[in-house]
Amino acid sequence: MNEITPLSNTDMLVLPTADDIAEAALKKIIELSKKAISDHGSFSIVLAGGTTPEKVYSLLAEEDCDWNNWQLYMGDERCLTRDDPERNSESVRRNLIDKINIPESNIHFIPAEFGAETAAKTYAKTIVNKQPFDLVMLGMGEDGHTASLFPGHIHDKQELVHPVHNSPKPPADRVSMSAEVLSQNHNLIILVTGENKRLPMRQWQAGVELPVARITTLGNKAVLLDNAAAANI
Ligand code: 6PG
Repeated sequence: MNEITPLSNTDMLVLPTADDIAEAALKKIIELSKKAISDHGSFSIVLAGGTTPEKVYSLLAEEDCDWNNWQLYMGDERCLTRDDPERNSESVRRNLIDKINIPESNIHFIPAEFGAETAAKTYAKTIVNKQPFDLVMLGMGEDGHTASLFPGHIHDKQELVHPVHNSPKPPADRVSMSAEVLSQNHNLIILVTGENKRLPMRQWQAGVELPVARITTLGNKAVLLDNAAAANI
C-alpha cells in the first residue's frame, strides 16, 4: 500500500473561487496535453468522477484540442447501467465527449454495468500496459476518499483495479483504480472546492492517513483549492 504523503504547501494552489480552479485546471491540462503529444504523440488522461471536475470538462469542450491523440480513462466508476446519468462516464460524455470530435476508440471507460468484480478484472487488462499516464485527475470526498478508495476499505495489493462494495458514497458498488495505479502518473492534479472539504484538507495537511494522501506522482503534483476549501490550512 502506498505510503502516506502529507500535503506540502508547494503542492497547493489556492484561488478565490471554484471557477478560478476550473480555469487553472484547464490551463494545466491543455499545456500538458500539448507537451505529451509533442513528446510522444499522445496524451493519456485519467479523468475524475464527481461534480467538481464537471466545469473543467465543459471548458475543455470549448477548446480546439488534437483530440485524435487524446486517450481518455476513468479513475473510478459507479456500478450503474451504462447510460445512468449518475455514472461518472455519463458526466464526462455530457460535459465533454458529446461536444467534441474524438474517436470512440480513444475512450476507455470502466464497464461497471457488468458488476464490480467483472468490471475490475476487465479494466485491469485495459490499463495494464498503459501506465504511467500523462495526467491523473482526482477529486476528494468529505472523508478524504479519492476515486472510489474509501477510508477503512482494505483491498488486495495485487489488484490494479479494485471492485468496491459498501461504499459510504452511493452507489454501494463501484470500481476503482488502485492507489498504486493512480500514482503511476507523470502529472497529478487534485481538485478540491467547497467548505465541506475544509476538514479533510486540514487532516491531509496534518498527515492523517486519508486515501487521497496515498496518491503520489512520478513527476508533478498540484492540489488546486478554492478559498472555501483552503480556509484554516
Ligand atoms: C465519485 C468520485 C469521487 C469524487 C469525490 C468528490 O464517484 O463520486 O469518484 O471520488 O471525486 O467524492 O466528489 P465531488 O466532486 O462531487 O465533491
